[in-house]
Amino acid sequence: MLVAGNWKSNKSFNEAQEFAHAFARFPKAPLGVEVMVAPPAPYLAALGTKGVPFLLGAQNVSSTGPGAQTGEFTADMLSGCGVTDVIVGHSERRDGHGDDDDRVAEKVNRVLDAGLRVVFCCGESLHDRQSDVHFDKVLRQLESGVLHLSAEVMSRVVVAYEPIWAIGTGLTATALQAQEMHAAIRQWLSEAYDTDIAKRIPLLYGGSCKPSNADELFACQDVDGGLIGGASLDPESFQALVEAAGRAVMNREKPKA
Ligand code: PGA
Repeated sequence: MLVAGNWKSNKSFNEAQEFAHAFARFPKAPLGVEVMVAPPAPYLAALGTKGVPFLLGAQNVSSTGPGAQTGEFTADMLSGCGVTDVIVGHSERRDGHGDDDDRVAEKVNRVLDAGLRVVFCCGESLHDRQSDVHFDKVLRQLESGVLHLSAEVMSRVVVAYEPIWAIGTGLTATALQAQEMHAAIRQWLSEAYDTDIAKRIPLLYGGSCKPSNADELFACQDVDGGLIGGASLDPESFQALVEAAGRAVMNREKPKA
C-alpha cells in the first residue's frame, strides 16, 4: 500500500517543517505501507537535505531537459534534491495548466529517464460519468500516458485514479465505483503488459479520501492506497490514513476462512 499526500499550493515553509516534525513523532509506517508527501516545489531541496520521515514527492516536473526554459525544473534536478516520486497528469494540471496528453506522456518519460517513480493520474469528469464514458476516458488517458513504456520501467509506475468530481469536493467515489474502475485499469494493464506487471503496479484512489472513508476504500481488492489532498495537510489525519492502510495490509494477509 502507498499513502501519498499531495499538498498542492498549501502551507508556508514553516508549516511544512512543522508537519515533518509532528509526523516524525508518530510510530513508523506499518509493514507493507509506504508514505510519500509532495510539498510545494520550493520546499523540496530544504526538506530533502534535512531528511523527512516520508518519501519526498514533487507535484510537477518540466517536460523538457535542462537549458533555456525559464521557470522550469527538470526531473534530474528533482532527483538531486532527494525527490523519489513525481505526480504527473493531475487533473488540476491537465485542466488548468495546459498539460495535455502529449505533454503528460513527455513528463512521464522525463521522470522515468531520471530514475524516479511516476504517480500517473487519470480520472473522468462528472459529465463523462453521467454520459457513461468514464471507463473509456480513463483507459484512453492510460493509453496515451503509459502504453509506450517498456515492461522494465513499469516497476516505477504508480497509477492514481482520481475522479475529477471527487477531488476537493467532499464527494467520494463509493467503494464499488473505485473498485470497478481499478479492476478495469488492472485488466487494461494486464492486456497491455502482463498479469504479473499489472498485479505489481500500485493503483491509488484519490478524491476526498479521508480517515472516515479510507478503511472502506482501502479494503477494495484493487485499491492499493490513496493519493490524498485535503486530508494530507494535517499530520493527525494523514497518520490516520497511514494506519488505515496498515489495517488493509493486515486484512489482506489474513488467510481466508
Ligand atoms: P482531495 O485531493 O483529497 O483534496 O480530494 C486529491 C488530489 O487531488 O490528489
